[in-house]
Amino acid sequence: MIKISALSDSVKSWKGDALLALMREEDCKKCLIAPPYDKYVKALVERKDFEGKKGSAARVPLFEEGVKNLYLVGLGKAEEYAPAALRDGLTHALRKIGRERNESLLILSDKSDAETDVIDVILGEAVGLCGYSFEKYKKKEKKEEQGETFVLKEVVGDRIDAKKTALGQIFADAQCFARDLANEPGNVVNPVTLAQIATRFAKEHGLDCEVWDEKKLEREGMGALLAVGQGSVTPPRLIHLTYTPKGKAKKGTKATKVKKVAFVGKGITFDSGGLDLKPSDFMRTMKGDKSGACNVLGILKGVAALEPKAEVHGIIAAAENMPGGNAFRPDDIVRARNGKTIEIDNTDAEGRLVLADALSFASDLKPDAIIDMATLTGACAVALGNWTAGLFTADEGLSAALLASAQKRGERLWRLPMDDEKIGETLKSKFADLVNGGSRYGGATFAAMFLNEFVEKGIPWAHLDIAGADFMKEESGVYARGASAWGVRTCLDYIAAL
Ligand code: BES
Ligand code: MN
Ligand code: ZN
Repeated sequence: MIKISALSDSVKSWKGDALLALMREEDCKKCLIAPPYDKYVKALVERKDFEGKKGSAARVPLFEEGVKNLYLVGLGKAEEYAPAALRDGLTHALRKIGRERNESLLILSDKSDAETDVIDVILGEAVGLCGYSFEKYKKKEKKEEQGETFVLKEVVGDRIDAKKTALGQIFADAQCFARDLANEPGNVVNPVTLAQIATRFAKEHGLDCEVWDEKKLEREGMGALLAVGQGSVTPPRLIHLTYTPKGKAKKGTKATKVKKVAFVGKGITFDSGGLDLKPSDFMRTMKGDKSGACNVLGILKGVAALEPKAEVHGIIAAAENMPGGNAFRPDDIVRARNGKTIEIDNTDAEGRLVLADALSFASDLKPDAIIDMATLTGACAVALGNWTAGLFTADEGLSAALLASAQKRGERLWRLPMDDEKIGETLKSKFADLVNGGSRYGGATFAAMFLNEFVEKGIPWAHLDIAGADFMKEESGVYARGASAWGVRTCLDYIAAL
């Protein structure tokens, strides 16, 4: 992970590989860039080779200043300036700079003090995200061939608030951690190894971690999670991590009340569809069906670094959805932890089953809020596309808070309905309390309303359907190829704002 620190000396005396100036259209005319670099910027602007237009960029090779390259990135007009575009543009530029054999970089930005709060956090995020790629299984020569060797190691910023950039880096670091885990294939990360990883992770970060194996799941009546996992040779696990704020009084003593938030993640380490087997094209990338769970671990990594006053729980329902001699079947009727029976209509609608038990577990903790994340439905991806996640909640306060955090962190989130009575009627089974699959129409709402049956009434709860946004075919902006870990920064922002 590249660190960003504040420039301690003058711009003039800094020697390194590259310099990056972020410029608005208005600033181009004024040109507040410090000498000796101002003359290059002025010349480019005069020749109209660079005007600060949004998304524009230029590279000036230098020969005299002890710095190899000067990069300019346009931020556009002040009124069209958007934080999300800045984060994307900046990450893109940094990625390019890192691939153009620059090991060290000084960032110059012309910003007012009022903007420091927003811009410096974004700087930290962009620096933290720009170098991400999942290449541990790739030969080094291959990377070089593709021109993707990233060498940037050190970034300093002029006039930055290092506290703010550090916050951005905590967000980015958590997201990269979640990406690394989600990108691992199903032959490496399965429910059992995921539980081992979580246990080790908890120890490293001073968190509590409890893992329930299949015997314990049986005793606890988690019939839905068990059903999904029974077709695999690797049994399912429930993983529960806890962050307790420092100074929180122990049980029994009179404690000052702190907020308690539970994050719940879908951890299907591979989703073949089960006996309702997916067609080949749809099975591809289903190693990413554990993204919700990986995000939960990422969030807890961030929480451990942020040290908020809130108590934060991470709950992961891990299973592998496979066909096999012992696999659960269509027509099966299973009993979830809260006592409700579910008739299986489609074994590929497995995420809502594992979450059913995890949400009832989370409810028992009596938190002030439950937020679950899941690559739950293709329908949500069809509705919103690949760069937006769906938000389902009946709680206006939680909705407003999450939408605000998503906006601040540049992760697109859109609220979808959860109060459709007609869809609600289709949840009922002729032979059990509920049925797990419904019509393809309104599939994301059906799934959310199904989950609602397992959350204790009165607990504010939000469901984030990240199918679609969880996996990127190509890199763009803050996203690298593969797992995106969409939502980690939004959720951390939500915690930081509590
Ligand atoms: N994991 C999938 C959803 C998914 C699809 C995630 C595409 C990411 C990209 C989920 O378990 C699933 O298979 N859902 C089915 C539900 C249906 C059988 C009711 C779907 O969306 O088709
Ligand atoms: Mn499925
Ligand atoms: Zn799935």
